[in-house]
Amino acid sequence: MTEIDNKVAHLAIIMDGNGRWAKKRGLPRLLGHRAGVNTLERVVYAAKDRGIRYLSVYAFSNENWNRPSVEIKGLMKLFSYYARKKLRDLVKADIRVRFAGRKEGLPDSVIKAMDVAETETSDCEKMTLIACFNYGGRQEIVDSVNRFVKEHPGEPISEDAICSNLYMPEVPDPDLIVRTSGELRLSNFWLWQSSYSEFFFTSSLWPDFTPEVLDEALNTFNKRERRYGGLK
Ligand code: IPE
Ligand code: IPE
Ligand code: MG
Repeated sequence: MTEIDNKVAHLAIIMDGNGRWAKKRGLPRLLGHRAGVNTLERVVYAAKDRGIRYLSVYAFSNENWNRPSVEIKGLMKLFSYYARKKLRDLVKADIRVRFAGRKEGLPDSVIKAMDVAETETSDCEKMTLIACFNYGGRQEIVDSVNRFVKEHPGEPISEDAICSNLYMPEVPDPDLIVRTSGELRLSNFWLWQSSYSEFFFTSSLWPDFTPEVLDEALNTFNKRERRYGGLK
C-alpha cells in the first residue's frame, strides 16, 4: 500500500501523447498506442491501490474520427483485443468496467467487447474504471437534452434534468483531471462535469506516465483549496 493520503474520489485522465512517444523513437503511431495501453494497465492498479473509487480515461474522442483510417482501425482493434484479454485480471482485482460515449458508428466487435466487459465485471466493487470511447462532452450534453425532451415534452430544461440524463448520472464529477503530453486543454472531455474540477498538467507523454507522477498529481490536489464560488 502507498503512503498517499488520497482525497480524490473520481480521477479523470486525458491520456495524450502516444503518437509523439512513437515518433520520438522512429516507430509507427500504433506502437505508441500499444505502449499507452501498458501504461494504462499499471495506472489502473495504482489508482485502485490508492483508494480511488472512479478512474475515468479518455481513450477515443468523437473528433478522433478525423484521423487516418489505418490509425482508427488500429485503435479499434487494440481496444477490443485488450478489453477481452484483461477481463479476468480486472474481475480478480474487483474492478468494474464501464464505457461512456456513443455506440453509433463503432464496429460490432467493439460494441460486443464493451458488452462482455460490462456484464462480466458488473458485480465488482473496489473501483470503477470508465473508458470514454467515442466520447465527446458536447455530444453528451446534446444526448442528455434530447433524452429529457423526448421523455418530458414541453417541460423546461434544468440543471437537474441535464445531470440526470448524462451517460453516467450516478458517477460523481471528477475531482481531478490529469492531462499528459503538455497540452493545456480539455479537448471535449467531461465538459459538463468539469465545472469545478481541479487540473494537473504534466509534460510526460502518456506511455512515460508512472505511478510516481500520479502521486505527484494527488499530492498537488491535496494542497488545492476548493471554494465552489464561496469563501473560505
Ligand atoms: C492519445 O495520444 C491517444 C488518442 C487520442 C487515441 P495521441 O494519439 O493523441 O498522441 P499525440 O498527441 O499525437 O502525440
Ligand atoms: C484527446 O486527445 C483525446 C484523447 C486523449 C482520447 P487528442 O490528441 O485527440 O486532442 P487534441 O486534438 O490534441 O486536442
Ligand atoms: Mg494527442
